[in-house]
Amino acid sequence: MTASAIRALFAVANRPEVVSLAGGMPNIGDLPLPNIAEGMERMIRDHGPQVMQYGSGQGEPFIREHICTVMKLEGIDAHPDDVTVTCGSQQALDLVTRLFCDPGDPVVVEAPSYVGALGTFRAYQCDVRHAAMDDDGLEPNALRATLQQLASEGKRAKFLYTIPNFQNPTGLQQSLQRRQEILAIAEEFDLLVIEDNPYGMLSFEADPLPAMRSLDHDRVIYLGSFSKTFAPGFRVGWALAPHAVREKLVLAQESATLCPPVFSQYAIANYLENNDWRGQIEVFKSMYVERRDALLSGLKEYMPPGCEWNTPRGGFFVWMQVPEGLDTQAMLPRAVTARVAFVPGTGFYADGLGSRYMRLSYCFPTAERIVEGTRRLGEVLTREAEMLNTFGIEGRRLPPDHGFPGPETN
Ligand SMILES: Cc1ncc(COP(=O)(O)O)c(C=O)c1O
Repeated sequence: MTASAIRALFAVANRPEVVSLAGGMPNIGDLPLPNIAEGMERMIRDHGPQVMQYGSGQGEPFIREHICTVMKLEGIDAHPDDVTVTCGSQQALDLVTRLFCDPGDPVVVEAPSYVGALGTFRAYQCDVRHAAMDDDGLEPNALRATLQQLASEGKRAKFLYTIPNFQNPTGLQQSLQRRQEILAIAEEFDLLVIEDNPYGMLSFEADPLPAMRSLDHDRVIYLGSFSKTFAPGFRVGWALAPHAVREKLVLAQESATLCPPVFSQYAIANYLENNDWRGQIEVFKSMYVERRDALLSGLKEYMPPGCEWNTPRGGFFVWMQVPEGLDTQAMLPRAVTARVAFVPGTGFYADGLGSRYMRLSYCFPTAERIVEGTRRLGEVLTREAEMLNTFGIEGRRLPPDHGFPGPETN
């Protein structure tokens, strides 16, 4: 395990004068805190000894039932017996990787992908093989080519890791047809699929699409989380896995933590039972859509020619490509000096690519701050582009099939 080189910079980026378009923290300020406080007080008064006790390694039965109700909204028909509660979906990722991977084992990951997953795969010394995306998410031909390449080396991937909804970092969503195509390839290559879905319920324009797990019960391990639809501080996520895998997951969970935090599970159940949680998700969505629109309008107004980005239909992130020759990691210190922060694209690739990209988050700052952030970012990029023109620094070229160009260009 290694510390990220940009960690120290983010300590600076978190200062209040910096507009951070970097972090992926949900904005939970709009939660009905007085109601939640009342519920928690009742919970401790009425059930204190239980909520502060050790619990089941698989998670408490009542929360696993609630989780099944939540998953129904994305078309998943599951039994609480097949759910394992985890400390956030991050721990589910860790447990699944621990179960399936020995050092050197290949895993296939769409590129770019979630930093936290790449960190886990690295910690278990997996051999990460990327497959490129297009505007519709993970691209089937790229997936097939990666699997064929592995086969030609006499290897087989332990699993495919994919984020079908409002992906981190690109914000892209796989269409239903795309999900079916990917599952058909998984069937052909007898490949296990890890579907990581923390953002699926934050769909701005339409009802959530059917989860991959709802289309294939046996081949998909589904990871879910309350972090983005309620609050990340409770650290409650889950894995829904085929029966045999579930048994091993519980053993792995027991060896990692004995049991997931009982207090948090009660707190989540309490919230779900005593609050309009579906209505709250609508509140979150309208707040995030306003912030997305602020980011998109700021980008349109302030970015120099040659920048390209997409319009996410949900979630937290926009993925932006900068003019050829610019390096987002190299320019980050100058951006932070100009009081704006983003995450350079290289963090989202296991193979060092991505230097022409950056992830911009619109989840946390207010709309006004976001627009100000884009103004500052526009100035930085304009200066960088001018330097490039003046000094003619040789640009680095990406392979033609790499990443994706967004539909909107400025
Ligand atoms: C794609 C993805 N997976 C998993 C996680 C981890 O979420 P948590 O552990 O809070 O459930 C995140 C957090 O940002 C994420 O973006």
